[in-house]
Amino acid sequence: MQTLEVSLGERAYPIYIGTQLLKQGELFVRHMPQPRAAIVTDSNVAPLYLQRLTATLAEAGVQVTPVILPAGEEHKNWESLNSIFDALLAARCERRSTLIALGGGVVGDLTGFAAATYLRGVPFIQVPTTLLALVDSSVGGKTAINHPRGKNMIGAFYQPQAVIADTETLNTLPDRELYAGLAEVIKYGLIRDHAFFDWLEPNIEALNARDPAALAYAILRSCENKAAVVAADEREETGERATLNLGHTFGHAIESGMGYGKWLHGEAVAAGMVAAAKLSQILGLLGADNVGRVESILARAHLPVALPALGADRYLELMGHDKKVEGGKLRFILLRAIGEAYLTADVGRDALLQALAASVSHD
Ligand code: NAD
Ligand code: GLY
Repeated sequence: MQTLEVSLGERAYPIYIGTQLLKQGELFVRHMPQPRAAIVTDSNVAPLYLQRLTATLAEAGVQVTPVILPAGEEHKNWESLNSIFDALLAARCERRSTLIALGGGVVGDLTGFAAATYLRGVPFIQVPTTLLALVDSSVGGKTAINHPRGKNMIGAFYQPQAVIADTETLNTLPDRELYAGLAEVIKYGLIRDHAFFDWLEPNIEALNARDPAALAYAILRSCENKAAVVAADEREETGERATLNLGHTFGHAIESGMGYGKWLHGEAVAAGMVAAAKLSQILGLLGADNVGRVESILARAHLPVALPALGADRYLELMGHDKKVEGGKLRFILLRAIGEAYLTADVGRDALLQALAASVSHD
């Protein structure tokens, strides 16, 4: 097992990464103030891992309440959130009871938001079971639900007590979900870790094939990057954490514009990162060779590299709900180079329309 720390002073917490972790009751109990927990999971993950984790915790003397949500991005909403509250109240969960998010980013974001607000805040532990959740969403304390008008529009910053990542759960992950997770892995190379991007280029096929050593390295390096960014700018105040949003202004527009669940989050981010690279090129920041490298590595990870044709006006309307909007002005994460991203409001309408035109699929 490897342990990283998210260095946030009194809110600091460990990320444990390894195998057989769902069987280690002590690892969980050491982060629980009371031997009482609700495991929140979804209808795909429950048949795979709920019983295993429940048995582990029961053996460690923990009383467990299971909460099973319908799987999918389209259920990351008030209704699911409310059903968590209903279950917690029915089981009389208390302030020192722990919520455990067992699943992907949807379960993690919902459970974190429930933990931030139930009884004005209860402890929670992230147990990511998708690559995307392992390398990104389980770390950093962003929690949210979607609104029909925009992605993740309602939520809270609320850090977990620990992230317990059992990489064996990835064995059951469908290929399409694995590739979606690779989009966020590639993102770290693009925004701040040129050396990692250089490593990813020759290793992307090994990752597609789930080579254990390659996957272990990519997971660790991604978590190190995420932990460092979160420690530097926990609440997205300096612009550093915002760089984790590379491609997300376009990506979130795809997700809400197409209807939640149609495109996977990682797929939308992949096409969005290519659009952000093209926008950077149009603004004279990034050379065509580097735009080509971005597009090529994502395509080799079986990810979409063009935006769906929603129409420029619709994109502008959808992007207007982005959380980075300030003073009514859109802000974007742009690339100055591979491994160098920054946040800016300095993007004119013409450049944006040009980037949209250059990025939209003609299929
Ligand atoms: P997800 O939670 O929908 O999981 C993907 C699918 O895989 C689901 O159908 C799920 O049931 C299934 N699944 C999960 N684990 C499995 C396993 N081990 N074996 C088989 N099937 C499994 O999606 P995701 O890609 O994990 O997360 C996407 C969400 O994360 C989005 O809502 C996005 O906004 C959010 N996100 C949040 C942050 C953050 O910082 N909080 C960062 C990135 C993404
Ligand atoms: N994935 C975006 C963030 O954590 O800030």
